Amino acid sequence: MTESQPTSAEPETFYEAIGGRATIELIVDVFYQGVAQDEVLKAMYPEDDLGPAAERLTLFFEQYWGGPNTYSQLRGHPRLRMRHAPYAVTEDGRDRWLKHFREGLDAARLEPEHDAQFWAYAQHAANFMINSPG
Ligand code: HEM
Repeated sequence: MTESQPTSAEPETFYEAIGGRATIELIVDVFYQGVAQDEVLKAMYPEDDLGPAAERLTLFFEQYWGGPNTYSQLRGHPRLRMRHAPYAVTEDGRDRWLKHFREGLDAARLEPEHDAQFWAYAQHAANFMINSPG
């Protein structure tokens, strides 16, 4: 028996482990329902229709967690901090963003270790996006 047995599957990605596109769509949908009700965040979005922004965030997370790389095919390298430069992201904005994101994650009811990993990333990334003292 050699090591070249093609029978063993590739290790599952985080994206697959949490349920793929459907799970990320659910998280992002609930997140954007919160954004739509949030007067501070809603005012920051350049388009009145949040649908296209929701699609970009869905594609970004899909790619980030090991799924299809459609985000970069459509938008190029994420460069998230640079893409947020046109918007004044304050501590208050971060807190609001994370509050709605938490609601999205809660709705998805991930396994505790997956929830913790996704939440840790969101907190880290949201902190990194702050670019204005307020
Ligand atoms: C975990 C932290 C965050 C992630 C992963 C994230 C991700 C993204 C992504 C992928 C886009 C679309 C970029 C593009 O392709 O053009 C985007 C846009 C945007 N983000 Fe964030 N973001 C985060 C935090 C925040 C925070 C804290 C704020 C505000 C307080 C914010 C406000 C916006 C706005 C206003 C846009 C433009 C909407 C649009 O795409 O048309 N983001 N963000």
